[in-house]
Amino acid sequence: MNEPLKVAVAGLGRMGTVHALHVHELARDTHECELAAVAEIDIEHARRFIAEIGRPVPIFPSIEELAKADVCDATVIVTPTDKHREHATLTIAAGHRVLLEKPLTGTLEADREFAAELDRDHPHSLMLAFQRRFDEPLQYAKQLMESGAIGRVFKIYSALEDSNPAPNGYRSGGILPDMSVHNVDEILWLTGRIPSKALAIGSRIYSHALTTCVEDFDDALLYLWFENDLIAQVQVSRNHVSGYRVETIIFGEQGQIHVGHFEQKPFEIVVEAYGRRGRAEPLAYRKFPMRNYGRELPEFVDRFGAAYKAEVAAFIECCKAKAPFPTTHRDGVRAQEAISAGMRATIGPEQAAPVEFS
Ligand SMILES: NC(=O)c1ccc[n+]([C@@H]2O[C@H](COP(=O)([O-])OP(=O)(O)OC[C@H]3O[C@@H](n4cnc5c(N)ncnc54)[C@H](O)[C@@H]3O)[C@@H](O)[C@H]2O)c1
Repeated sequence: MNEPLKVAVAGLGRMGTVHALHVHELARDTHECELAAVAEIDIEHARRFIAEIGRPVPIFPSIEELAKADVCDATVIVTPTDKHREHATLTIAAGHRVLLEKPLTGTLEADREFAAELDRDHPHSLMLAFQRRFDEPLQYAKQLMESGAIGRVFKIYSALEDSNPAPNGYRSGGILPDMSVHNVDEILWLTGRIPSKALAIGSRIYSHALTTCVEDFDDALLYLWFENDLIAQVQVSRNHVSGYRVETIIFGEQGQIHVGHFEQKPFEIVVEAYGRRGRAEPLAYRKFPMRNYGRELPEFVDRFGAAYKAEVAAFIECCKAKAPFPTTHRDGVRAQEAISAGMRATIGPEQAAPVEFS
């Protein structure tokens, strides 16, 4: 019998509310799953969410209480990053398969330890949430690239810029592990390669002063070398005050592919591919309308709402089929390894050379 998968969502903050909404919608529309429970310390907030979706769903006051109760087969964990390992360990021990929000743990040392534990005891229990892999515009760009439309690829530029600092109370291990982990995973996924060298450059220039969330930088660049034939430039910022900017440019010997550009049109993503100079027409041009949820949600949902939903749907499908997950803890470790290398070779104003005018 095709019983719906019982899914719980733990942590109903900025991101968890969106995952819970998607599980609820998939339950209503596909009957493949059921939103079996939510766990949230802020019970009032959880009650408001449950009232909004209009279905009676049990609320647990913590993920610890949820793990003790035998109410679900799978859990989406969306609690603060520094709790990821503890919370994933707890729910996996309770027999759940887990979709864990990025990053895996927030530090390289803990990532490696946790991944070794999972490899040994639970190799197929954890899917790591890298929603870009489920994003239609980026999937289309990957197809174009793999079809040879722009020839051999030698450079990728990937930018992710928030319009605001992380909110008060948000706990981050730094802008690179927190944000650039998306870009780095995107680049490794697009190219199927891992970098050999990395360097980071960072500044605290504006928005760090507007929040209690402490981060090393509010603007940073990560430069990655893949042997001698490919480089990647990652740009992350909390200072793009005009709105969320997500852009990827893939440079090939025969042209380039652009995914997205900022123009204060949050619900439309354009993918364009151009040939070499002299061509009159683009190689490809396609618009991807994004879903407007019609209510106030964090800005990353305007751009990636459909990808987050497709990611949860893929998680549910794998759980039901008892199949391995398309992204795992190992993808999280690889991305963090590249970022940590860059952070070991960080240049701030102290390391930069003084400019000497004659
Ligand atoms: N994929 C993305 O684009 C994306 C975007 C934003 C955040 N995230 C990730 O999602 C995670 C959460 O980020 P956020 O911005 O939603 O944070 P948040 O602070 O808004 O939400 C975290 C929630 O977890 C709850 N919580 C804490 N401990 C708990 C416990 N023991 N049991 C139950 N609930 C508990 C908090 O009360 C809070 O509501 C972070 O790891 C972050 O990196 C991912």
